[in-house]
Amino acid sequence: MSQELFDKANGVLEEIKNSAPAKPEEIEQFRITYLGSKNIIKPLFAEIRNVDNDRKKEYGQLLNTLKTTAEEKLLSFKSTQSSDASQGGMKLDLTAPGESFPVGSRHPISIVLNEIIEIFTKIGFTVAEDREIEDDWHNFTAMNTPEDHPARDMQDTFYLKNSTEMLLRTHTSSVQSRVMTSQKPPIRIIAPGRVFRNETISSRSHCQFHQVEGLYVDENVSFADMKQTLLYFARSLYGKDTKIRLRPSYFPFTEPSAEMDVYWGLEDENAYRITKGTGWLEIMGCGMVDPAVLENCGIDSEKYTGFAFGMGIERQAMLKYRINDIRLLFENDLRFLQQFTTAG
Ligand code: PHE
Repeated sequence: MSQELFDKANGVLEEIKNSAPAKPEEIEQFRITYLGSKNIIKPLFAEIRNVDNDRKKEYGQLLNTLKTTAEEKLLSFKSTQSSDASQGGMKLDLTAPGESFPVGSRHPISIVLNEIIEIFTKIGFTVAEDREIEDDWHNFTAMNTPEDHPARDMQDTFYLKNSTEMLLRTHTSSVQSRVMTSQKPPIRIIAPGRVFRNETISSRSHCQFHQVEGLYVDENVSFADMKQTLLYFARSLYGKDTKIRLRPSYFPFTEPSAEMDVYWGLEDENAYRITKGTGWLEIMGCGMVDPAVLENCGIDSEKYTGFAFGMGIERQAMLKYRINDIRLLFENDLRFLQQFTTAG
């Protein structure tokens, strides 16, 4: 009986000596087999009572050797492992928790702009984009606002240093003139983009903001077409029961011109404040393209008519999300931005 146990223990010792785990999982398996709480050496210790008395000491020593050999082997496996890893330039700690990547969210201006684009592309408008540094002609003159025209004061302009010709566009109407001088009707575009005006920064205005302008030029385009298009737009963005009204207004590039309001209601104090007690809120300017603008851009104003409109995207975002300070939209404070988790 004794010899059998000695053979068994020596067999295990051979096994330990010959094992050469390389991968971390193999090393762990080695540890579990020979040193874990249910290791295979333990039951051999229990067998000591079956060993002949005169060989008990020898048997005990053999088992101790088994255990220490296993321990030494494990240590050496682990150290070659970590030096391998450090040769590769990093220490691999498999138990370290993974690093998480913060998920971004879209900027509220992008969310609203994408929504506006979707609304208009559904009815056949395409997106037109152009430069932010414009010449005076495309920004003003073509849009029926020649030099000395008092309407230039409506949009305080940043001119480039030492230039009376080049400026930061004050509206994306400059894209209208770019498109009309390069394309033939029918034209149906929306022009989103950043615009600049020399205005004092406050909770309600900023020296840079974003606009979407729209332009539709074709034969027989009427004021009624414009009204219906803008009603469709307002209902798509602000809800299907939204009411609109058009108030007469003035823009040099449209005749007649109007401002469009949506009915916001007077349900709470805030609604009272932002609508100045009327319940109506202005959201954009619009009108029939002035024939002079069409002619400036080489389009026959006898044959074609058109409508145009323009709105500030910040304003729509502020209304939609009830943001009461425009500066929040430019500060990029993550605590503010992370609230807008709309997918897409
Ligand atoms: N360009 C005008 C603005 O910036 C908006 C507008 C565009 C008005 C088209 C009428 C028609 O204020």
